[in-house]
Amino acid sequence: MSHRSTVILGTGSYAPKRVLTNEDLSRMVDTSDEWIRARSGIRERRIAAAEEATSDLAFHAAQRALKDAGVAASEIDLVVVATVTPDYPMPSTACILQHKLGIPTTAACFDLNAACSGFIYGLDTACALLASGRYKKALLIGAEKLSCIVDWSDRGTCLLFGDGAGAAVIGVSDRPGVGLIGTRLGALGEDTDLLLVPGGGSRAPATADSFKKGDHFIKMKGKEVFKLAVRVMEEAARDILEQHHLDAHQIGLVIPHQANLRIIDAIAKYLELPIERFFVNVDRYGNTSSASIPIALDEARQAGRIRRGDVTLLVAFGAGLTYGSALIRW
Ligand code: ACO
Repeated sequence: MSHRSTVILGTGSYAPKRVLTNEDLSRMVDTSDEWIRARSGIRERRIAAAEEATSDLAFHAAQRALKDAGVAASEIDLVVVATVTPDYPMPSTACILQHKLGIPTTAACFDLNAACSGFIYGLDTACALLASGRYKKALLIGAEKLSCIVDWSDRGTCLLFGDGAGAAVIGVSDRPGVGLIGTRLGALGEDTDLLLVPGGGSRAPATADSFKKGDHFIKMKGKEVFKLAVRVMEEAARDILEQHHLDAHQIGLVIPHQANLRIIDAIAKYLELPIERFFVNVDRYGNTSSASIPIALDEARQAGRIRRGDVTLLVAFGAGLTYGSALIRW
């Protein structure tokens, strides 16, 4: 094959059944539906069942993506799971999923942690490995059970997060001019303290005391994260458009990380695009971290908002602080 375009062959997503509305939250902490909608645009989020782990959410999304792509599990030779809520610290969720799906034991399987930018980091990684010719078909998943690391008594964070999974099957095509056009990744490692889970790692292993203090929950400086999120997403979007000599108006659809409607609004204003050009489902799912972009991508495709020949811009930021953008031609 002379030309190696890396293309998304199919997508799938899965959201757990249980819906937690703002009304429900207002019975758990001192907040209101009005406040949450005004500050974040979120109306409800999904919460996984106690017996559902991240690999279970990933499994459903992956099955749907394989079906959509018309690809059998036996054809997959690379599995990448982007997550900050793996089933276990080890082994990787990718290995658990490989076995559940019946993917061959010759497939490479690993997890990737770039928080909410995970899907874009994973897309860059999977596409580079496919373009190298060493792999033929990749399954890339963003899956999270954030509800188990959210402090449900902290009204400043619990409104934001939800559970879910999104998946894409990626392959190689000899059709020139389609597929991944490029990516732009980065990270602001000096800002790790703005958004982190302080306990349970090697810095501060879990103890009865750390558990009592709630160190295994997400701690976030919301205002600071908000400002940085807008800045890095604007930069990531601007840089990738410039790099590929595209004008924002040539973008058919922008799929931003679904963290907060006000952040999405700010990016739309910066790019001078109407909000209708953005795919938004933060109202129904809240922030599902790594799962956010692939769920939105799948819903956008299902809703017919991506047509052949269109260019889609993905843009995200997340804990790290990581950020990234990607351009795809369909
Ligand atoms: N209900 C009612 N009042 C609240 C709530 C709530 N749920 N939460 C906070 N408040 C109060 C605060 O106590 C504060 O009161 P005060 O002025 O008396 O002190 C007031 O509302 C304003 O609080 P702020 O935190 O300043 O509110 P802000 O407008 O910044 O909105 C929010 C908070 C929605 C969390 C916002 O900062 C945000 O979205 N930040 C970005 C966070 C984000 O996107 N994180 C995801 C990162 S991605 C990843 O990798 C996981």
